Amino acid sequence: MQIVFLGPPGVGKGTQAKGVAAEQGVPHISSGDMLREAVSERTPTGLKGKTYMDSGKLVPDDVMIDLIADRIARPDCARGFVLDGFPRTLAQAEALASMLQAKGRPVSVVLYFDADEATIVERLSGRRLCRSCGAGYHVKFMPPKNGTTCDKCGGELYQRADDKAATIKERLQVYQKQTAALIQYYRDRGLLKQIPGGASVEQVGQKVREALGGVGARKV
Ligand code: AP5
Repeated sequence: MQIVFLGPPGVGKGTQAKGVAAEQGVPHISSGDMLREAVSERTPTGLKGKTYMDSGKLVPDDVMIDLIADRIARPDCARGFVLDGFPRTLAQAEALASMLQAKGRPVSVVLYFDADEATIVERLSGRRLCRSCGAGYHVKFMPPKNGTTCDKCGGELYQRADDKAATIKERLQVYQKQTAALIQYYRDRGLLKQIPGGASVEQVGQKVREALGGVGARKV
C-alpha cells in the first residue's frame, strides 16, 4: 500500500501516520521530519530548506521531489509506505505519480484530514517535541507526565520554531494557496477518503482504520 496523508498543518497527520505505518509494517516518511533532520545535520538540503521552513513557506519543489524520490527508492519501501507531508503542490503530486508509475505501484489511497482553524491553531501552539527521541506531546491533549521532559527518554521538550503564532498563520495561508488544490486533484482520481480530524486521537484513529479497511490495507 502506498498511502498519502493530506491535510492542513497541525491537523494530526503525523500522530496518525506513525500508527498506520507501524500497523502496516511499512516506513513512515515524513517530509517535515526529513527536512528537520537535514537542517540539524547541516546538509545542503537542510541549509537550503531552513529559511523556507522557519518562515512557514514551502521548500522548492525540485528539492522536495529529489528528497522523496531518493527515499522511496530504498529497499524498505518495496512493500509500500506512508507519505506524510508530501505531496504539497500539484507539481509534487504529478512527480509522485510518475515515480510510482515507473515502479508499477501507484498511490493506493489518500487520507485527507480536516478540522476547523481554531482546533488546528490550538494543536500547533500546544505541540512539544523531545529533542532526544523526537516523541511528540501536547500541553493539553497529550501532556508529558513531568511537564518539561520526555516520558520515554527523559530528554528536553521544545516547541518547533514554526509553531509560533505568526508562522502558524503563514503556514495556514500557504496551505490554502498551494496545497488545498490537491484535495480535488485526488478526488478526481477516485483516491480521496476524508477523515474528520477534529475528534480525539482515538476516535480519529478509528476512522482511519475504517477508511483503510475499505481499501484492503490490512491485507498487506
Ligand atoms: P511538516 O513537518 O510536514 O508540518 P505540517 O504539515 O505543517 O504538519 P505538522 O507536522 O505541523 O502537523 P501534523 O498534521 O503532522 O500534526 P501532528 O500530528 O504533529 O512541515 C514543516 C515545514 O517543512 C513546512 O512548513 C515546509 O516549510 C516544509 N515542508 C515539509 N514538506 C514539504 C513539502 N512536501 N514541500 C515543501 N515544503 C515542505 O499534531 C499536532 C499536535 O496536535 C500535536 O501536539 C499532537 O499531539 C496533537 N494532536 C494530534 N491529533 C490530535 C487529536 N486528534 N486531538 C488532540 N490533539 C491532537
